[in-house]
Formats: sequence, C-alpha cells, structure tokens
Amino acid sequence: MPSVYIKTYGCQMNERDSEAVAAQLVAKGYTLAQSEHVADVILLNTCSVRDLAEQKALNKMENVAAEVRRSRPDVLLGFMGCMAQSRGHELIDRLPDVDLVIGTQKFHRTANYLDDIFAGRLGKVVDVEEESGSEAAIREHLFNGTSTPQSATAFVSIMQGCNQYCTFCIVPYTRGAERSRTIPDIVSECRELVGRGVKEITLLGQIVTSYGKRRSSSFSLPGATPSPDTLMRELQQTGKSAFVKLLEAVNDIEGLERIRFTSPHPKGYGDDLVEAYRRLPKLCESAHLPVQSGSDRILKRMHRGYTREQFLALVGKLRQVNPEMGITTDIIVGFPGETDADFEETLSLVSEAAFDNAFVFKYSPRKGTPAATLPDPIRQDVIEERHGRLLERVNEIGREKYRREVGKRVQILVEGPSRKNPARLEGRTRTNKIVIFEGSDRQRGQLLDVNVTRLGWFTLYADAAILNDE
Ligand code: 5AD
Repeated sequence: MPSVYIKTYGCQMNERDSEAVAAQLVAKGYTLAQSEHVADVILLNTCSVRDLAEQKALNKMENVAAEVRRSRPDVLLGFMGCMAQSRGHELIDRLPDVDLVIGTQKFHRTANYLDDIFAGRLGKVVDVEEESGSEAAIREHLFNGTSTPQSATAFVSIMQGCNQYCTFCIVPYTRGAERSRTIPDIVSECRELVGRGVKEITLLGQIVTSYGKRRSSSFSLPGATPSPDTLMRELQQTGKSAFVKLLEAVNDIEGLERIRFTSPHPKGYGDDLVEAYRRLPKLCESAHLPVQSGSDRILKRMHRGYTREQFLALVGKLRQVNPEMGITTDIIVGFPGETDADFEETLSLVSEAAFDNAFVFKYSPRKGTPAATLPDPIRQDVIEERHGRLLERVNEIGREKYRREVGKRVQILVEGPSRKNPARLEGRTRTNKIVIFEGSDRQRGQLLDVNVTRLGWFTLYADAAILNDE
C-alpha cells in the first residue's frame, strides 16, 4: 500500500484534522511516511488566516512539485483544508502538478479520493462543497496500530465553523457556518480515548462558547454590529450554556484527569463558564482568551462584540475563581485605522490583564473580508515597530508570571520527550506552562508533582532529584 506524508500549517483544529485524515488512511492500509522524500502521497493541510501561512504552503508545494515529482512522477500531491477551501480549482491552475484539492468539509473523503485516483477511476479532484454532517466526521485518532495512544493528551473537535464574522477574519468563509456535534457523540469519542490511556482532552472549536447555539442570519452579515445592550445581555446570561453542559458530561468520564478547551470568545464567556472552573475539578486553570485589541474603537471596527472594560472584567472574574489562572491571548497589531493612541490602549491592556503569554500578529488583509477594504491601512514599518514593542511588553509581563512559579510545587502531566532536548522529559502544568525535567520514559503519561527550580524562556525547569512520583 502507498505511504502518505501530511504536513500541517496553522491552528490546533488543523492538527486535529490532519490526525483524523492520517488515521483514516492508516485504517485503509496506507502507511505514514516520515518525510516527503519517501512518500507516495504528499498532502499539505493549509491555513488561510494570514498571507504568510498561505505563501508558506504554496512555496512548499512548488518545491515538492519541482523536487519530488520530477524524480518520482507517480507521487500524488494534494492541498487540504482552509486554503484548499478558499482557493479551490485556482490551486491546480496555478500549480498543475497538484492532483487533489480537498475542502474543510471533505477531510473524511480523502482516502476514497486517493483510492479512486490510484485506480484510475478519477483524474484530478477538487471537492470544496458544503456537506451536512461533516462536523461529526473528524472522529478517528491515531493509535500506533496498538491500543496505546500516541500520547496522554488528545484533541477532540466538538464543532465546525464560525458565525461571528470578525471583520479581519477569513475563517467563516473557509470553515463555513457553525455546526456542533452532539454531546453523546463527543462523550463517546472522549471515553474511547480515555479507555486507551488518554489523560487530558482539549475540546476544540473555532468558538467553543458558541457550542450548540445557532445565531440568526442577520447577526452574521458583515458590518451588522449587534447593539451593546444585546452584548451585555449575552454576557449576563445566567442560564447554563450547552458548552457548560458538555464540560460537565466530559468531567464525569472516569479515568480522565484533565480538560482544556480552545478557543472561547470573550463575548460568549458567561458566568456559568466562569463558575465551571470552581465546580469541575478536571477543568484546568487555564484560558486562552483572544482579545485582538485593547482599544474600544478598534474592537468595534473588528466586530468583536465586547469592550475593553468587559474583557478586563472577565479576566478579573476568572482570577477571582482562581488567582493562579493561566490566561493567554491573541492580539493583532496594525488593523486599519489603528492610531498610536489605540495601540497604547493595547499596550496598557496587556499590563492590566497580566497575560501569561500572548500571540502577537501583524494584521494581514484577507481577500473577501470587510476589513480588507477599510480605509487607512497602517504602514508596514509602523506595524513592525508596534509588533516589536508589544512583544517586548508581552514577554516582560509573561516572564514575570512564569518567574513566580519558581520554587513552587506543581502538578504536571508528562507528555513525552522534550521537543528541545529529547534526553529530557516535558510536561505541562494545569495552568498550561511547559515544564522540563530529567526523568525516565516510564513516567510518560503520568501526573507528577515536581518542584520548579528555574525559569527558561517561557519554560520551567524542575529538579529530578526532588521528584515525588512514588
Ligand atoms: N491578520 C492577522 N492576524 C489574524 N488573525 C486572524 N485573522 C487575522 C488577520 N487577517 C489572528 C487572530 C486570531 C488568530 C488565530 O489569528 O488574532 O485570534
């Protein structure tokens, strides 16, 4: 049977989609290749969120076509995921060596398409249609061909798509409208994982706080900003959301130790979810809470649906539940019309929120999004300068939070060899900080209490001598 190499760009959803495709192909008898140089099928699972991510995948495919295809003409080449969805046939027009373009609702058809192409039943394939029910098709996991999982942690995709239409963002156009899987379906996948030794599950969705909700279509029209009253009402909703019900159901799974989720939207982050951290012992004290900007004017133009004050109030509530709560964020610099004053607001928000870490992105205009046609684009050198200054602030504040961990005893889940130094082991605290220590492979998948001895660059080191694993 042929071998497959899948390279993934972008977010954790993409990682998860690639894993599901790999598992699907392995189930059909394909093997997984370690590099493109020995693979019979090369698939690039793409990201469209910034231009850089698209260019990387396009360049990669161009190189693969030039280097691999030339010496081995029978190799099949394919694009999957977000850029496949948004560009479709254009990708084959541009790179005629490409055989396969598979959109975000068609991952589960990859094996059949490959079979058909190998058997000569199909020529080139472009499939970027919508498919109802596809939100429940990302289900299979890779298991080494045995009952042991690849690792003690797993991602579970709970929904697909996004109805929020932030003006900078291409995701609603590449991932489609919000569709959620059912709680029993998700719980049964989680149970299966736990049965195979998984200890920590991260529930994934574009906006997990919208899990199980459908919004009216008028909400999703670009530019139709909901009134602040509506947003306040939403924030103050006291009823239990479908997402919190899902968390409760997952929390009840025996043998599961830890639950995480990503990403929530600050707007949909109700008190029920804040309280869930108090009530659900497996829910880790960590939240990735994308803020995007600290300026109300920019937040409004981004169609984010909350104010700086509301965001900071949410951070405050989370820290009230647990002062140790690890909070990270995403921020965009250089959104059209961002003034120096707006940017200063972002800098000061970073200090006030005291994020443990943040991803800082330079605004990248995406074709078809409302922001791409807004006036007052920011000059590239200004974007660079703001990016540098913001990163500095983020690092300063984040490292201070990390520094406070030194000397503490923390619980980690051992994930495996450290990515930087495979002779050491790596785990994560409940607040989502990486801890490196010297241990033995039999500790993989275990929950350990370790003493943090020193700080690296957004990594903590623990002393092996004072491990208390037995
Ligand atoms: N330009 C720059 N960053 C973007 N993001 C989304 N769209 C864009 C864009 N057009 C960032 C946001 C989001 C993260 C995944 O990517 O910060 O939270």
